[in-house]
Amino acid sequence: MLNSLKPMPPDPLLGVTEAFRADPSRDKVDLGVGVYRDASGITPIPRAVRAAEQKMLARQNTKAYVGPGGNRQFAAAMEKIALGASHPALRDGRVATLPSTGGTGALRLAAELIRLAGAGAAIKVSDPTWANHVPVMKGAGLETATYPYYDIAGGRVLAAQMLENLAGCAPGSVVLLHGSCHNPTGADPDPGHWAELADLMARRQLVPLVDMAYQGLGRGLDADAAGLRLLCERLPEVLVAVSCSKNFGLYRERVGAVMCVTESAATAAITMGHLQSLARRNYSMPPDHGEAIVAEIASDPALYADWQKELDDMRDRVNGLRKSLATALRSELGSGRFDFIEQQAGMFSMLGLSKAAVERLRSEHHVYTAPDSRLNVAGLSGKEIPAVARAIAAVSRD
Ligand code: LMR
Repeated sequence: MLNSLKPMPPDPLLGVTEAFRADPSRDKVDLGVGVYRDASGITPIPRAVRAAEQKMLARQNTKAYVGPGGNRQFAAAMEKIALGASHPALRDGRVATLPSTGGTGALRLAAELIRLAGAGAAIKVSDPTWANHVPVMKGAGLETATYPYYDIAGGRVLAAQMLENLAGCAPGSVVLLHGSCHNPTGADPDPGHWAELADLMARRQLVPLVDMAYQGLGRGLDADAAGLRLLCERLPEVLVAVSCSKNFGLYRERVGAVMCVTESAATAAITMGHLQSLARRNYSMPPDHGEAIVAEIASDPALYADWQKELDDMRDRVNGLRKSLATALRSELGSGRFDFIEQQAGMFSMLGLSKAAVERLRSEHHVYTAPDSRLNVAGLSGKEIPAVARAIAAVSRD
């Protein structure tokens, strides 16, 4: 049976790490997969995570199942972080939240729920979008289509084209939006565009699925959730996939949640039953280790404050790296071609280089970006910025 299988091509993002590891150069720089690195090149375990994990393990006296709904303290904490503590939907019990295996697991559960609920039209994703969005949606049996999103030459969101495209969607269509720190471009709609988007979606009865993988790494925990919160105010139904990989540094623990803001407490209860059933038939029930760490942080004001402080520091550092890289590129090229890097938010910016230029970055300069020329700014330790800027300038002159 298995002999009939054809070899898989490398994953567009995870394959970059493999290629990087195989490169014997001592000067190589990995700016592929989205992980934050500090000035020593390490992806740190946040202080609050370390402390909470120890507290949690010291208290834990069993590894028996938690149950089909997973860690409820964690679910409540994620709802408050994403929606804001005083969100009316929380007060009214209109939110169904199930912990998931990372943000990707949340997206998969959301996609299966969308299919189950019979949303007829293809789910719309931004052009471009995270390389795994379409595979996750298609893997759950959904069709996908794109809406225009990014002007690569200008380094800005194509807000008017996006709105015009979405205005043509059939009522009930699902639209995948990036809550903040758009992946791969780093360009987010501004508050005015979010307001127009919320109006349009309400008018056309569209349902957003908001991927919130980088909350806190763009402009701040609340600022990064402003678009999502506006949609939740204006629309009867909003689906959200949250992740703790980046903002809690819990990458390998696979911690996330799928969150459904619904019209009534009754619909939320039914939705929760379906989410649990979808998880049950896939892998039975939510994992707990990483969720319990986040729940511990959320229940301890000192740990929570320290986590927020470290997240603020991470964000400030990434913004500093953006500025340094843009400045270095300006002086290499004598032009502001890459100035957008400084204005964008989150971990990534897309350089807009050709495939050949991306290949030359790797083979001649040992600088590894994603194949679409997405560069993980947050992966720079800092000291390699002059060499990276020289390399980008060299391949983008031709
Ligand atoms: C990324 O976009 O690099 C991250 O979200 C990691 C991944 O799983 O692709």
